[in-house]
Amino acid sequence: MSAARAGRPSLVVTRRLPAAVEQQLTREFDARLNPDDRALSAAELQAALTSADALLPTVTDRLTAQVLQVEPLRTKILANFGVGFNHIDVAAAKARGLVVTNTPDVLTDDTADDAVMLMLMVARRAGEGERHVRAGAWTGWRPTHLLGTKVTGKTLGLIGIGRIGRAVARRAHHGFGMHVIFHDPHPPSPEVVAELGAEAKRTVEEVLREADFVSLHSPATPETHHLIDASRLALMKPSAFLINTARGDIVDEAALVAALKAGRIAGAALDVFEREPQVSPELLTLENVVLLPHLGSATQETRVAMGLRALENLKAFFSGAPPRDRVV
Ligand code: DGY
Repeated sequence: MSAARAGRPSLVVTRRLPAAVEQQLTREFDARLNPDDRALSAAELQAALTSADALLPTVTDRLTAQVLQVEPLRTKILANFGVGFNHIDVAAAKARGLVVTNTPDVLTDDTADDAVMLMLMVARRAGEGERHVRAGAWTGWRPTHLLGTKVTGKTLGLIGIGRIGRAVARRAHHGFGMHVIFHDPHPPSPEVVAELGAEAKRTVEEVLREADFVSLHSPATPETHHLIDASRLALMKPSAFLINTARGDIVDEAALVAALKAGRIAGAALDVFEREPQVSPELLTLENVVLLPHLGSATQETRVAMGLRALENLKAFFSGAPPRDRVV
């Protein structure tokens, strides 16, 4: 190892990142990349924590209290690639003196686009239609074929109206003329709410009762675990759809399967799952469900921007400045 190389902080990057990001990380850090893109085991994460100054993890790395207990801990910062950090036990990280950062803002638009795409797909039966054409089953246009649900002008209920929820509200209100209602324990200012054409509701239950489409935009915390359970699903209109681009465990997936099978709601569109990458097998058999493999931020532009944002946080930290996106 050259002297210059030895002088730079060491970094373990847990998954493959876009080439432009890996190049920059390698220029700035003594970076160990993961060209095979295989998820690291708990033991491998611990090996990284004992051998590198910094870790750049993703949502697939479970940085539990047990993993973070490793000795001797060399790592000083967990620069997460992603806005959500529920895969990191932040209390344990704090107790071990670790700084944790995330990558907000840069993925807001893509994730909002994903939610709108899912809403349209499930309402207009796009997945079913695609499967139909690919199966060679299409016999031609007819007035009663694959009729879906109109989106324009309907009521969209948002659970959580942070950055991504607001971007969804903007698209829904200004793009589709939807009436947007929401519940958030920390609502934005009345000016922001007015600009979004949105209406605050006092409870999650009110949103669920009134909405034609319910879209989830809460962070995954102990408070939001199974926020949407059997009793809350039962409050939704039988004609309503559930959309989840936030985190899988906000929804009790077994209860959702039961509600869908019993026809208690009209359908669901999911980008995230309770036990990713496992998907409840029954969901795979239901036509009124759209299933995507956690694609919220999956565009070239945004994945590069996320990587550069993590790099910015790392550079700030190692230059002694406060990282922009410190969460712990
Ligand atoms: C995010 O940024 O939180 C994405 O879901 C990937 O982790």
